Amino acid sequence: MSSGPANVSRETTSRVPGMLDSSSFDAETFGNTPFGHISPAETPIAAEAQRASQILHPGKVNVPKPREQRIITIANQKGGVGKTTTTVNLAAALAHQGMTVLVVDLDPQGNASTALGVAHNSGVPSSYELLIGEVAVKDAIQVSPHSERLLCVPATIDLAGAEIELVSMVAREGRLKTAIREAGMVGFDIDYVLIDCPPSLGLLTVNALVAAKEVLIPIQCEYYALEGVGQLLRNIGLVQAHLNPELHVSTVLLTMYDGRTKLADQVAEEVRNHFGDVVLKSMIPRSVKVSEAPGYGMTVLDYDPGSRGAMSYMDAGRELASRAQLKQDAS
Ligand SMILES: Nc1ncnc2c1ncn2[C@@H]1O[C@H](COP(=O)(O)OP(=O)(O)OP(=O)(O)O)[C@@H](O)[C@H]1O
Ligand SMILES: [Mg+2]
Repeated sequence: MSSGPANVSRETTSRVPGMLDSSSFDAETFGNTPFGHISPAETPIAAEAQRASQILHPGKVNVPKPREQRIITIANQKGGVGKTTTTVNLAAALAHQGMTVLVVDLDPQGNASTALGVAHNSGVPSSYELLIGEVAVKDAIQVSPHSERLLCVPATIDLAGAEIELVSMVAREGRLKTAIREAGMVGFDIDYVLIDCPPSLGLLTVNALVAAKEVLIPIQCEYYALEGVGQLLRNIGLVQAHLNPELHVSTVLLTMYDGRTKLADQVAEEVRNHFGDVVLKSMIPRSVKVSEAPGYGMTVLDYDPGSRGAMSYMDAGRELASRAQLKQDAS
C-alpha cells in the first residue's frame, strides 16, 4: 500500500523566506499598481498571517460536535514521541473549533498542565487526589487561561507515588472512569476528554485505558518508531478482554515529521501499512515553535497561531472530529 497523499505542513520550504519567484511578478498576481493585490500564498509572511487569522477567527464552526462524549487516551510507552504535545495541541485545536475539552494529565511530570498554563504545584487538587478518592472531580478541574472551553485536571509530583498506592485499592483500574462520569453528573458539558499518559504501561495507563473508548497512538517519524507498539497493542487487547470491551485504537498520528529526510517518509509508509485507515492523513511537522510553546505555558495555537505546527494540529483536530462523524452517519 502506498502512503497516499498526506496533509503535511512543512516548516521549511525550498524558497528563501521573504523572497518571491521571479515568475510570480506578473500583472495578474500583483494587479496594475506597484504593490497591487498579492495573493496570500505568494509570500511566507502573508501565508503565515492568513493561517493565524484562520485560527484566531475560525468563523463559522464547521467541525461537528460528537453525538456523545468522546474519551480518548493518548498512549505510547515509548518516551518523547509527542504524547503530551499532541494532547494539549489537539485539545486546543478542538476548543478553537467550538468544543469543550477536558485534558486529564496522568503523567507525574505534569507537562500537559504546564503547557495549558494551569497550576500544578504540590497541594493543588489533581489527578492524584482524584484517583485515590480524596477530592471530587469538580474541585480538581481548572480552566486554562487561554480558553474557557479548555479544562484541565492537572498532575502534580504526588502522582509519582500513585502507582504503588493504587495497588491495594478496590476497583483500582476503574477510578478515573468513575471520576470522568462524575464530571458529567455535576454539570460539566464536555465534548472531548483527552488523557495524557506517562511513558509506561503501569496502573496509571491502565486507568486511562479503562476510562476511554478510544486510544490515540502518536508515533514519531524516527528510527525504531514501531518499537514497543506491539507491547502496547497487547496491553490494549488485555484491557479490552477483561476490563473495557469498547476500547479500540481509533487514531494514529505521525509526529515530528521532517519532510527533508527520506527516513520520515519511510517511517510514515511503514506506519500506514501497519495501521491502515486509522492513521490520520495530517502529520505534525518537526517545528521549533511546537517545542518552544510549553516554555511559555502555552499551546502552539496560542504561542504562534500562524505557524505550520499550529496549522497541522488544527488539521489533525478537524480530521479527528469529522472522521467520527462519518462513522456515526454511516451507522
Ligand atoms: N512537532 C514537534 N516538533 C518539534 N519538537 C517537538 C514536536 N513534538 C514534540 N516535540 C518535542 O519533543 C519532546 C517530547 O515531546 P512530548 O513531551 O510531547 O513527548 P511525550 O511522549 O509526552 O514524552 P514523555 O514520554 O516524556 O511523556 C518535547 O521536548 C517536545 O517539545
Ligand atoms: Mg508526556
